[in-house]
Amino acid sequence: MQTLARTSENNCRVIDLIGWAEKHFLSKGLENGRNTVEILLQHLLDCKRVDLYFGSEKQLTQDTIKTFHSWIQRLIKNEPLQYITGTIEFYGLELMITPAVFIPRPETERVVEIALQILKTVISPKILDVGTGSGCIAIALANELPEASVTGIDIDPNMLKIAQKNADLHKINNIIFKQMDIQKEIPKESYNLIVSNPPYIPLNEMS
Ligand SMILES: C[S@@+](CC[C@H](N)C(=O)[O-])C[C@H]1O[C@@H](n2cnc3c(N)ncnc32)[C@H](O)[C@@H]1O
Repeated sequence: MQTLARTSENNCRVIDLIGWAEKHFLSKGLENGRNTVEILLQHLLDCKRVDLYFGSEKQLTQDTIKTFHSWIQRLIKNEPLQYITGTIEFYGLELMITPAVFIPRPETERVVEIALQILKTVISPKILDVGTGSGCIAIALANELPEASVTGIDIDPNMLKIAQKNADLHKINNIIFKQMDIQKEIPKESYNLIVSNPPYIPLNEMS
């Protein structure tokens, strides 16, 4: 890969990096290059999209350029953008994710919308989220319904650690997470609504 440092003799502004990366993505046949570059830079520089352009003449450090190049390499090797940045936006909340966690899909936001519709007239609902993963559905519901009590269960304790971190990140207190294998155990309490985005990839197709 031709590096940006070589093309610009070590002087590199935000706008140079955006232009270079967009062209580089195009040459690799990757679509939405500019959008992807902007997301990477927002995380790298810890700023909003608009600030990239207000600060487009800002000189970048060699460390920043190096990290950016390594992120581009990971993308080209098909690593999901969300695992590189370590975050995803779900129902208006920024959630932390790691490669141990299923990446919440945009269409899963529909589950939240339908749940909110169903619970519209229920006062202080009790909600169970089976296979909570990053906690995305449970946390979005707990955030939208502060009077609700939400329980997220998952078979995998690593998922639950991330889910709890995400709840803490947004200071959501009306939620608890429990380790439970739904195929072996049935929650003892009763709930107004049970939501789930269960595993749908056959085990033999998972890498
Ligand atoms: C497709 S992911 C969905 C994660 C999250 N709800 C979402 O929508 O992004 C399915 C989740 O179910 C969990 N899971 C799989 N088998 C389970 C079981 N027997 N009992 C409880 N959770 C299980 C997995 O660990 C995984 O986190």
